[in-house]
Amino acid sequence: MTRNICFCAAITAVLISLCIAATLDIPIYRQRLIVGDETRGKSIKASETKPNPVWHNDTIPLQKFMDAEYFGIIRIGSPAKNFKMVFNTMWGDTWIPSAHCGLFEIACMTHTRYDSSRSSSYQEDGTIFSTGDTANDLQGFVSRDKFRLDHLTIENQSFIEMTHIPWIPYGLSKADGIIGLGFPDLRHIKAPSFFTNMLKQKLINKPMFSFYFNRDATTERAGRLVLGAPDRKHVNESTLVTVPVIGKLYWKIKMDRMVIDVRNKSHPFCKDGCEALLDSSTNTIIGPRDEIQLINDLLGARSFVPAIFKMDRYMVNCREFAKLPPIDFKIAEKTFTINSKYYVQHLTYESLEICLSPFVPSDEKFWQLGGAFLMEFYTEYNFNHGQVTIGKTKF
Ligand SMILES: *[C@@H]1O[C@H](CO)[C@@H](O)[C@H](O)[C@H]1NC(C)=O
Ligand SMILES: *[C@@H]1O[C@H](CO)[C@@H](O)[C@H](O)[C@H]1NC(C)=O
Ligand SMILES: *[C@@H]1O[C@H](CO)[C@@H](O)[C@H](O)[C@H]1NC(C)=O
Ligand SMILES: *[C@@H]1O[C@H](CO)[C@@H](O)[C@H](O)[C@H]1NC(C)=O
Repeated sequence: MTRNICFCAAITAVLISLCIAATLDIPIYRQRLIVGDETRGKSIKASETKPNPVWHNDTIPLQKFMDAEYFGIIRIGSPAKNFKMVFNTMWGDTWIPSAHCGLFEIACMTHTRYDSSRSSSYQEDGTIFSTGDTANDLQGFVSRDKFRLDHLTIENQSFIEMTHIPWIPYGLSKADGIIGLGFPDLRHIKAPSFFTNMLKQKLINKPMFSFYFNRDATTERAGRLVLGAPDRKHVNESTLVTVPVIGKLYWKIKMDRMVIDVRNKSHPFCKDGCEALLDSSTNTIIGPRDEIQLINDLLGARSFVPAIFKMDRYMVNCREFAKLPPIDFKIAEKTFTINSKYYVQHLTYESLEICLSPFVPSDEKFWQLGGAFLMEFYTEYNFNHGQVTIGKTKF
């Protein structure tokens, strides 16, 4: 009984947390070497300590929760408090739950909350925020504080203290909040975004970030996000291709075609070309309803999620998923192939297991390439050039 409840909770968490997030697993930053440390058998004079290198990038190791969420810890305030954050390319603002949220705000209660009265570096703003969207109704107000990464500290970073957070999808997610990595025009609040602030404060010298994800279930290492630099160690450089971004709002690129070969027959999708958004907020691939239906049919996937979740998820047979066909994405005249080993979401809890097709229908015309694509392809995002660079991940 308990086990079933746990399982349901875990699976629900997995399904409704559409977020891939990145874990900031940051070691304690030592300002300087310990002077006169006798435990190492010799004493170090202050003059012998090496100066700290000046960092113009930061690396954020990612961790994962099941095969669903990639989230990270960022330290906010003084003294700093840890928040698990999703790094979301589809969003422009930064938000965390507020200590001021109401008593019946379950999604707030189940997460770490920011209490401005306990942070000496807090600065008041108070601008009211509301998405005004009934489906995803977030409400809060703007505040500012220090954000600490591994080596870099962002001063005076504006964020939204959320006082109302919808139970679905946030209630059971592991992550507390979101850091938006979309273009600045995507944000709701006026103040500079997390990324813009890093550039303005000259903390990084390249206006770019890069993602490498690792879905391999045998390792805790879930990839990493590098801010201000490429991460070419994790890509086969001969496969890199750079494509322009359409519109500088989302990380939207042109996709020429998608092809699935089943039983020697080639099934094309996005036949006349389409728009695709690189989406670090989901582990799925989202596309137009009619095409997704056909793809799920080709994969032999059956509808799985009860209608109340308002999410169309499809299940594949866990015994068979290795036999599912590879899927080709044609972008800039190159072929990016994803394999079922990585694109099927394989969720296990004790002896129970569920395998999900990554393909989720939507009523939009564009595609969203989330984890099922990003697990096999390393990506670089350049704000100034408005470009995305994609290459085969080197695990
Ligand atoms: C990040 O900065 C450090 C310190 O300046 C440097 O040693 C390192 O090579 C940089 N990393 C990348 C990926 O550029
Ligand atoms: C802090 O950020 C706010 C909002 O962007 C800005 O108005 C203010 O000038 C900044 N303060 C400092 C000291 O940079
Ligand atoms: C890198 O990609 C090229 C071109 O696809 C391929 O020939 C080569 O074997 C790959 N290298 C590695 C180390 O996977
Ligand atoms: C697919 O084509 C190959 C080679 O042409 C053939 O050997 C095989 O039987 C075909 N498979 C099916 C399922 O038609």
